[in-house]
Amino acid sequence: MITSSAPFSAQQFASKITGTGSGFPKRIVTNDDLSKTLDTSDEWIRERTGIRERRISKPADPNERNSSLALRAAQQALEMAGKRPEDIDQILYATVSPDTLVPNTACWLQLKLGAHRAHAMDINAACSGFVYALTMADQSIRCGLAKTSLVIGAEVLSTFTDWEDRGSCILFGDGAGAAIVEQVPGNSKSRILSTHLGADGRLWEMFHLPAGGSNMEVTPEVHAAKLDKMKMKGREIFKVAVKTLADYAVIALESNGMKADDLDWFVPHQANLRIIEAVAKRLDFPMEKVLLNIERYGNTSSATAITALDEAVRDGRVKQGQTVLIDVFGAGLTYGSTLMRW
Ligand SMILES: CC(C)(COP(=O)(O)OP(=O)(O)OC[C@H]1O[C@@H](n2cnc3c(N)ncnc32)[C@H](O)[C@@H]1OP(=O)(O)O)[C@@H](O)C(=O)NCCC(=O)NCCS
Repeated sequence: MITSSAPFSAQQFASKITGTGSGFPKRIVTNDDLSKTLDTSDEWIRERTGIRERRISKPADPNERNSSLALRAAQQALEMAGKRPEDIDQILYATVSPDTLVPNTACWLQLKLGAHRAHAMDINAACSGFVYALTMADQSIRCGLAKTSLVIGAEVLSTFTDWEDRGSCILFGDGAGAAIVEQVPGNSKSRILSTHLGADGRLWEMFHLPAGGSNMEVTPEVHAAKLDKMKMKGREIFKVAVKTLADYAVIALESNGMKADDLDWFVPHQANLRIIEAVAKRLDFPMEKVLLNIERYGNTSSATAITALDEAVRDGRVKQGQTVLIDVFGAGLTYGSTLMRW
């Protein structure tokens, strides 16, 4: 089932992104670095995924924890929006690799940022998390629960990656993205135009982490069997990803009476460049208008789309009045798209 909030121009309030930011670990791990311990090669990884390198956190470094990467991203986003931490009413933190299960990572970030007025929660929708959190921010703002939301997509997935599984570990990296989302009048030209969310729990097995929740404690035996590491059926996910990304792009465009031609920028989840190229082909959309950062960061899960968008906002590619479509999929499986006018 698809949950939709499109289109809603008649309503009193709308929301828009007024600031973006990113934070990455310092350490760069190239494909050649991976080839030293894995039966793989730079050529294979680049050809099959489009990834050249990724950033990997040092778990012992407190400045490279999930919430520390998000702190840097949030500070940049606040600066762009001209806001202070005390202006934030709400922190919605999309992650599947929290600092701790309790308290949530949103509270760690609130503490580090000094955003003490904000209510704070984590949202787990895997790689779709940023669009899920952005949707919740948009709904909260339109309903009057918040006027200024801080939306985060941040991961330290390297902790849950099986670094001996060449079929999955080559894809992932760590990083954080942030957006300040603010209330604007409902008739504003520049605003979020629509959001669509979906999920299909029947496909849970395609990408999952068996242990670490209440189903299975991480014992030495469980750790030895690598049940505390992510399991992925790459080939199967690939096909579903292409279909759902294309479907959710079409749903977003059609519900706003638009065609692919009307779109200035497409910001897909960055899991594999070949997935993105296949989606662009299905939509008949030129790759020049696709915002990409997968080559340098790999799949940073909930952080991919917002960090790719942040780069393009900062270097001036995304301009006021342009239409931007964020389109994501992830474990669950989960899906979603947000169409906005910048
Ligand atoms: C994982 C993924 C890169 C694998 O690429 P692929 O082209 O589908 O490759 P396949 O799994 O079909 O494997 C092809 C061959 O390459 C091998 N191979 C797999 N990983 C390899 C690696 N890192 N280096 C070298 N060879 C590799 C396989 O063992 C297989 O060999 P075989 O033909 O002898 O059996 C790709 O399926 C993918 O990106 N899937 C989507 C994953 C995804 O989106 N996950 C995130 C969800 S949010």
